[in-house]
Amino acid sequence: MYRTHTCGELTAEQKGKKVTLSGWVNRRRDHGGLIFIDLRDRYGITQVVFDPSNDKDSHTIADDIRPEFVLKIEGLVRIRPADQENSNMNTGAIEILGGGIEILSRAKTPPFEIDSDKPVSEDLRLKYRYLDLRRDRMKRNLIVRHKLIKMIRDLMDEEGFLEVETPVMIKGTPEGSREYVVPSRNYPGKFFVLPQSPQQLKQLLMVAGIDKYFQIARCFRDEDQRGDRQPEFTQLDMEMSFVSEEDIMNLNEKLVTKVIQEITPDKELVTKPFAKLTWHDAMSTYGSDKPDIRYELHLSDVSDIVSGSEFKVFSGTVASGGVVKALRIPDGAEMPRSEVDSFEDLAKQHGAKGLAWISLKDGEIKGPIVKFLSEKELSDIKDRTEVEEGDLIFFAADKFETACTVLGAARAKVAEKQGLIDNNKIALAWIVDFPLFEWSEEEGKLTSSHHPFTAPKDDDLDLLEKEPEKVKAKAYDLAMNGVEIGGGSIRIHNPDVQSKVFDALKISKEDAKERFGHLLEAFSYGAPPHGGIAWGLDRFIMLLLDEPNIREVIAFPKDQKSKDLLTGAPSELPKDQIAELHISLSKE
Ligand code: AMO
Ligand code: AMP
Repeated sequence: MYRTHTCGELTAEQKGKKVTLSGWVNRRRDHGGLIFIDLRDRYGITQVVFDPSNDKDSHTIADDIRPEFVLKIEGLVRIRPADQENSNMNTGAIEILGGGIEILSRAKTPPFEIDSDKPVSEDLRLKYRYLDLRRDRMKRNLIVRHKLIKMIRDLMDEEGFLEVETPVMIKGTPEGSREYVVPSRNYPGKFFVLPQSPQQLKQLLMVAGIDKYFQIARCFRDEDQRGDRQPEFTQLDMEMSFVSEEDIMNLNEKLVTKVIQEITPDKELVTKPFAKLTWHDAMSTYGSDKPDIRYELHLSDVSDIVSGSEFKVFSGTVASGGVVKALRIPDGAEMPRSEVDSFEDLAKQHGAKGLAWISLKDGEIKGPIVKFLSEKELSDIKDRTEVEEGDLIFFAADKFETACTVLGAARAKVAEKQGLIDNNKIALAWIVDFPLFEWSEEEGKLTSSHHPFTAPKDDDLDLLEKEPEKVKAKAYDLAMNGVEIGGGSIRIHNPDVQSKVFDALKISKEDAKERFGHLLEAFSYGAPPHGGIAWGLDRFIMLLLDEPNIREVIAFPKDQKSKDLLTGAPSELPKDQIAELHISLSKE
């Protein structure tokens, strides 16, 4: 038998008991004859003492032990001397007097210390992920992740949902990002793709009458990586029949709240109920469609004030249908010029042409653009932005979305710098009334903001043909502390509406049939009204655990360049394996 107990469970209650433990050597200390070994497993650490006067053989073996060796030890549980108790450990009241030791496995010196919080480069951690996962932080993250997913499964079950697995090799789903492709050996020139989400399959399940579906689903997207993006990630995916937007939002609000209260009881949920903002208001007020509403700092719109201004950057933008937005930076007047410039650089990264500014210092308005603005314009701007002595105001003149986004990025940077964010708070906001379409410069046509099956608002149906860009969607996103953690919509189940949406997207009948024929066909056999949502589980867990990116909550993530540093994937394949797939590689 390898163990009678784990390394995390023995207490004074087992005093005098003979036990067997197995685990890794966390640390070994030699105290003048006595050898102390901290034995570690998933459950904790137990101190084992080898005393030559008690058991000479074991002591000799213990002398040869190095960190990360795997041992089986036997011994008697005894109470530690009072001065050696460790109240931070479950097992801190006892130790084992070692009376037998077997080395189950030797270990090379690991590339980084397991028993230490010392920073280690992420590349090294990912390459030796199995060692990284031995560390407390990662172990905690895996445990919380398990607990959270189990809780979700139980809650969904209680709500009457059925978990249904959907395939990972499918036909492409249009959700906006590039797909990973799987070549087919049996059908030369044909391919499966990996799902960006189970979107179409869950809609088919609604046609099948599974009126409450959910799945902890793996999704695949070949897109540029960021801290909150991975090529493979996990969703809590759900779909329901005979529901409204409110039904879905209410249920999800209940679920999210329960999970937060259970998993992070010490955090303060400051939005009860969750905030609800239209997309337009979120953009206009916070400069983001996933605003962090834990702190104030609102954007203002000064377009009307500067529409006739001599400053052509402003008046010209308004004349051509754009807006001029302003953001007050409390105490910003003291910023050195280099810092103001760093904000301008940030603005440009977000598509701005520039970032104008004025400041209020010693009762006087200063800044390079002051000379272009009239007394009245300046005083109206002061009133609108509620600027105070010592503040600075940034301006972005551009199309609505760009101007807002630019100042939204500045807002986030200021909050971070000035410590306006209380990490113990959780703020959730539903973002609703998204535009159904967005203009794609790249494609020169409208594209779906969400996906082509998202239903338009009933009141906007008349606009679909003539002014599609004004149509709003029955879609909702959930933003938590400035991160989009979920999104969904009511779907179209009426073929006439679907065909109008395809028209607006310039998807021809043939094209629609080729790409989504199976779904349209299914809908012709009696489709219930339906809708759903998916949570980005990795992001949700990342936020609950205060981790800076989702790689920290995924056991085996890809790195920031979508590579698997542990196994070396993606990697080359033998030539004949590639040939069998009817693929020829172009020569570089
Ligand atoms: P959406 O594309 O908004 O919707 O995805 C839902 C949620 O998944 C998370 N997410 C990601 N997480 C990590 N890495 C990524 N690359 C990544 N991409 C998205 C986000 C996002 O809110 N089928 C629809 C849902 C529906 O309509 O029901 C969908 O997938 O948190
Ligand atoms: P210019 O007239 O181009 O020298 O710009 C004068 C100031 O206005 C500079 O501080 C620019 O950064 C700023 N600026 C230029 N274009 C914009 C814009 N679209 N929105 C806000 N500020 C701008």
